[in-house]
Amino acid sequence: MTKTDSTVTIHMAASLDGFIARTDGSVDWLETSDEFEDGETLDPGFVEAFLKTIDCYVMGSRTYETALGFEAKGFGWSYGDKPVFVLTRRELPQTRNTVEFYSGDLAQFVNERLRPRFHSIWFVGGGAVSGDCLRLGLADVVRYSVLPILIGDGIQFFEKLDRDIALHLAEVKAYKSGMVELCYEVRK
Ligand SMILES: NC(=O)c1ccc[n+]([C@@H]2O[C@H](COP(=O)([O-])OP(=O)(O)OC[C@H]3O[C@@H](n4cnc5c(N)ncnc54)[C@H](OP(=O)(O)O)[C@@H]3O)[C@@H](O)[C@H]2O)c1
Repeated sequence: MTKTDSTVTIHMAASLDGFIARTDGSVDWLETSDEFEDGETLDPGFVEAFLKTIDCYVMGSRTYETALGFEAKGFGWSYGDKPVFVLTRRELPQTRNTVEFYSGDLAQFVNERLRPRFHSIWFVGGGAVSGDCLRLGLADVVRYSVLPILIGDGIQFFEKLDRDIALHLAEVKAYKSGMVELCYEVRK
């Protein structure tokens, strides 16, 4: 970590075969119908308290476009009133004043602009941005929610890496829905 005690976390949900979306970008398969008897139940109060600990979100433009599509269909905005930084070289609609666009050097952006300002920085996808985040050595934690489904093909959790990245398994939780959440610390 640089200068501050900030933490950069990558979090996404993926199929067991490692995809975060189908090749056409659709995520309809995220709604699974499994039941794991011994699993934990997600307590809404806990989720709400946990979300409060996140200080800002970072996402790629294609993930932002998916989020806007969800909102247009009435599913709401998942990021509350927290600052959301969208990486893009294009002109995209700014639907709320918590959204800010950035284009350029990702390492410089994270280390010089985000880390001094925010304690808990969450990268929420997609695969291209998560790949960059790992390749550039910016991530401290990877949270991987595995859903009980195989989809065969699609956009990978992170795009191809040019080296191995050693991880430390810090936490595992299995839920009644059949989802398993894996939390890894990136070994520096
Ligand atoms: N299952 C899950 O939990 C989950 C989570 C998130 C996303 N998703 C899915 O994943 C898909 C999107 O993932 P993706 O890998 O295709 O794309 P992405 O990572 O969301 O976005 C990549 C785009 O971000 C922009 N960008 C990246 N780095 C930049 C930089 N340093 N400066 C300026 N712009 C930069 C570029 O777009 P421009 O052309 O705009 O410059 C790039 O093409 C969607 O289908 C979404 O639904 C799933």
